[in-house]
Amino acid sequence: MLADKRILLIIAGGIAAYKCLELIRRLRERGASVRVVMTEAAKEFVTPLAVGALSENRVYSDLFDLTSEHEIGHIRLSREADLLVVAPATANLLAKMANGICDDLASNVLLATDKPVLAAPAMNPRMWAHPATRRNVARLAADGIRFVGPNTGTMAERGEIGAGRMSEPMEILAAIEAHFEAAGEGRPLLGRRVVVTAGPTHEPIDPVRYIANRSSGKQGFALARALAEAGATVTLVSGPVGLPDPADVKVIRVETAREMLAAVEGALPADVAVMAAAVADWRVASEASEKIKKGAGGTPHLDFVENPDILATVGRHSTLRPRLVVGFAAETENLVDNARAKLDKKGADFIVANDVSPETGIMGGDRNTVRIVARDGVTDWPDLPKDEVAVKLVALIAERLG
Ligand code: C5P
Repeated sequence: MLADKRILLIIAGGIAAYKCLELIRRLRERGASVRVVMTEAAKEFVTPLAVGALSENRVYSDLFDLTSEHEIGHIRLSREADLLVVAPATANLLAKMANGICDDLASNVLLATDKPVLAAPAMNPRMWAHPATRRNVARLAADGIRFVGPNTGTMAERGEIGAGRMSEPMEILAAIEAHFEAAGEGRPLLGRRVVVTAGPTHEPIDPVRYIANRSSGKQGFALARALAEAGATVTLVSGPVGLPDPADVKVIRVETAREMLAAVEGALPADVAVMAAAVADWRVASEASEKIKKGAGGTPHLDFVENPDILATVGRHSTLRPRLVVGFAAETENLVDNARAKLDKKGADFIVANDVSPETGIMGGDRNTVRIVARDGVTDWPDLPKDEVAVKLVALIAERLG
């Protein structure tokens, strides 16, 4: 799939730059051509000699070098590629990209390009969590920049743990392949309207407390992004999550199951509904208007009422049922039996079932192992990054729509 694809790899100055050597090798193995731009700081971490040897190309880093008549200019460099990959995408480079600052070759190329850009952030967890970086990443996502990672784990700095580790070379490679898979098949969902739910719902107990299911929203967001990349017009109805809006997706943020249902119904008619939200099954029967006080009356007694089932409402809709209705089933036991039961109960065409027992690490993680449960059988997919599960689901949706 990567044969003859032209990748322009931009290496910025971070310790994770060493992983790029492996990434270049893997890209070359698959037949991609690789041109590399290094920032000055990147050269402190890997040598242009090693990068040049592995990429089998000259390495670019000086903006003014390119003005000589023998060289291609930075505009050509930025456009003679099918995909730009920024790895590691440092906090500094992301900040420059978000603000259109161009003071070296790498940032000039990123501003001048008309090609898609995939960024693999890498930085200290505090830098990643800083409101300035959050703002920059959200803005870049809205500008259509795609992201892979970062992962959570121990950092190069001793004792630092958190989100900020650059994705592994094979994960970046998978994201690159996923990009070309979506692009290569054209845009199979062009003109289709899709509504996606994601994240948890929060059901208030009083003004400060709520009950909720665990859900990061990552799979639903990845799916919304992949659907949009496949050409669909996507409405994503999300409960409270800490994820930026995916590019080219209409995002409606809600809190409760009832709000989610109203937003989903508002997004109909649609060709496809994919209900990936972890909706709270129950809500507190009567929400206290003031904060419930500790003490005097002992522990509070809460009465629950059942929430509307959004998937079932859509799957059994008498007039506006989408042609394809996809549900999710997060289970800790009897995965397939439970998912099969849901097919009929909720009027779904297929169910994406996953085992969310804590030891799987799926909940909140970046990978997912799913089984597709349909009336005509069960298909097991391998353990994949959530982004790739999303791309495969889009292909399945396109196939089922015919
Ligand atoms: O019944 P269960 O919650 O396991 O079903 C999971 C599927 O149903 C998911 O697709 C989820 O988004 C959807 N669901 C829903 N509304 C609910 C409960 C679940 O849409 N109230």
